[in-house]
Amino acid sequence: AELKAFASTAPSLTAVQEFLVELIPARLSYYNWTGFYMLDPEDAETLVLGPFRGAPTEHVRIPVSQGICGAAVAQDQTVIIDDVNSDPRYLACSLETRSEIVVPVHAHGKVIGEIDIDSHDLAAFTAADRAFLEECAKIVGSYVERTGISSKA
Ligand code: SME
Repeated sequence: AELKAFASTAPSLTAVQEFLVELIPARLSYYNWTGFYMLDPEDAETLVLGPFRGAPTEHVRIPVSQGICGAAVAQDQTVIIDDVNSDPRYLACSLETRSEIVVPVHAHGKVIGEIDIDSHDLAAFTAADRAFLEECAKIVGSYVERTGISSKA
């Protein structure tokens, strides 16, 4: 409810995303990296890093054909990887990362980006995380449906 109230008055998409990356990991100690990747409006084959919390990553742009991040958008579904080191698609950001969940964000029925969470724990993400993050993704998607993707902070 707090989230939806904030999103209804937020000044920009970036503000909604900043609010979520602050709030999502705050009470969940196993959320070690939380961030948004959004499809580049000028190049739908590439994800661009948006607001995040956690260690800086060299993966600022990720082709849809690469990584767990690319797979979630290419397949247009939530991807949960219990052990990133056993998945050949995985692009390493932090050597400490052991598991990952990536949840697509939709607007007007199309995938526009994703929420990506890394954990230092093996198999950290459950159906409850998935349900929670899919709700967060819906808030972002609804915001974009109301205001458009181009609004800047
Ligand atoms: N691990 C991701 C890359 C992004 S970092 O986790 C922040 C992937 O395999 O696509």
